[in-house]
Amino acid sequence: MSFSIERYKEESKKLDTAGIDWEAVTSSPLSNGDLFCLHYMMDIENHVPLYLSHLLVTRACMDPILTAFLACWNYEELWHGENIGKFLNLYGIEFDTQDRIANVRAHLGVQNSVSLMSTMVGSWLLKDFSAVYLTIGAINELSTLTGYGALIRKAGHPVLRDLLGRIIKDERRHFAFYFNSAKEWLTDNEKAQRVDRWMLDRVWVPVGQGVKTQEQVDALALYLFDDEQGEEELLALDEKIGKLPGLAGIKLMSKALYAARDRRGRNPDWASRLIDHEEWAVAPPKKSPIGELTTRRARGGDSADALEVM
Ligand SMILES: [Fe+2]
Ligand SMILES: [Fe+2]
Repeated sequence: MSFSIERYKEESKKLDTAGIDWEAVTSSPLSNGDLFCLHYMMDIENHVPLYLSHLLVTRACMDPILTAFLACWNYEELWHGENIGKFLNLYGIEFDTQDRIANVRAHLGVQNSVSLMSTMVGSWLLKDFSAVYLTIGAINELSTLTGYGALIRKAGHPVLRDLLGRIIKDERRHFAFYFNSAKEWLTDNEKAQRVDRWMLDRVWVPVGQGVKTQEQVDALALYLFDDEQGEEELLALDEKIGKLPGLAGIKLMSKALYAARDRRGRNPDWASRLIDHEEWAVAPPKKSPIGELTTRRARGGDSADALEVM
């Protein structure tokens, strides 16, 4: 698996959706679980620009190769979220994409700022921060594409298969960049390997956690991977990450699945109730209304009229 940043810069582009049979989106049914996963995945794809804000303040971003990658990567991820949203809208689920994104962000609260500050400070204190960040990038991209693969299998929806198949190709390139960069950083660097392993064992969480609650993360994991094939896929994922120098035998995604099973074992309703009750809408937060966070300060009032006049 090789990766050339020069080639990536030349070839990076918005997701090619030419030929996707959008008109057939409603021809095949989706289960509640499929819809739950699609909302989760869309929200996390749409969260990338905020995730990027955490990265750009770190020591890792002194590297011009990394910032070149992130510039293209951010743009590609934007179109993943956009197209999953389009798919859901065409399926008949009504929401305004911009409102949904703003609502998700408004729910992040002060915790988001604390996390941004601690990532920034941590990165400057920790010489090998890049090793940790690049490894987490590799795990996130690999688990994202593994999740899309599992959803294709679960949903059996031809249009979704086509769309997610195209997104998976982007995610593979992202994974190749992170994996190769992490490998370069970790090779012959025992201190970085120790730091990386220590951090992954203690602070790593599955992609989306923080934006989504533990129960939402578990609902996705259990829906997609709680069968023989799913578990095998997560073990294979861990094995792949374990090929990085210093990470042999590491358990991450499989451990997250087993922890989700444990939580469900203690509470049989855990996770599945979110899917059964179709809890994928994102309500506007009670405090910090999105009007205060966006340019859309008023709906239907004076300012809306003023906008129209302009
Ligand atoms: Fe993506
Ligand atoms: Fe990606």
